[in-house]
Amino acid sequence: MEIDVFTLFPEAFSWFTSQHHIGGALARGHRIDYVNYRDHTPLKAGQVDDTPFGGGAGMVLRVDVVEAALRARYGQDPVALREERAVIALTPAGRMLDDGLVDELVQRPALTLLSGRYEGFDQRVLDHFASMEVSIGRYVLAGGELPAMVVCDALMRKLPGALGHEDSAVEESFSKALGGAPEYPHYTRPAEYRGWPVPDVLLSGNHARIRQWRREQSRVRHSGAPTDGSLP
Ligand code: ADE
Repeated sequence: MEIDVFTLFPEAFSWFTSQHHIGGALARGHRIDYVNYRDHTPLKAGQVDDTPFGGGAGMVLRVDVVEAALRARYGQDPVALREERAVIALTPAGRMLDDGLVDELVQRPALTLLSGRYEGFDQRVLDHFASMEVSIGRYVLAGGELPAMVVCDALMRKLPGALGHEDSAVEESFSKALGGAPEYPHYTRPAEYRGWPVPDVLLSGNHARIRQWRREQSRVRHSGAPTDGSLP
């Protein structure tokens, strides 16, 4: 899979790319490249943003700057590009990222992620250059860099060979294998801690019973066990 991330802060991704599972995916031939809008701006002094028409706080990423960066990378009009390539703008109001959307995106051989900054993008970027807007939650972050990392992370761990165990990405929370339910609980040593025992079934060595217990636990969590509780 090839992912191009457009950003004003490519250096923000150095920690991310140094993570073991991302490095592993890159070593297996997948690719994440970073394009700095500022390197392609047609404006003087590296300008990339401007004040919003109509007034208001913050700065808006300019449409001509985003176009120049996309043209420099792909050598074609971004209006045509979005018809053949998944060009995803990261915005708080976009389609919510979930396991189903990750499955859709991971089928794509190539993706473009557009990170915004400040007050976001000039609306014409979203209307004419993006194939889709994606949000990682209904809250506003200072920029699209963290959302781009979230999308890349969620995709990369679904690629074959990404995790130590091939099964780990299949039967995990919200996956099709669990019918969209949260994953069952996990335990490790010690088998008893402060009087809190690990469920007997997990120590039984009976894999059919363990599988059944896990499915049940996953179903119980799905049917409203309060994992979304309140703080004290
Ligand atoms: N940019 C700023 N906030 C965001 C969010 N919640 N999701 C995606 N992109 C964003």
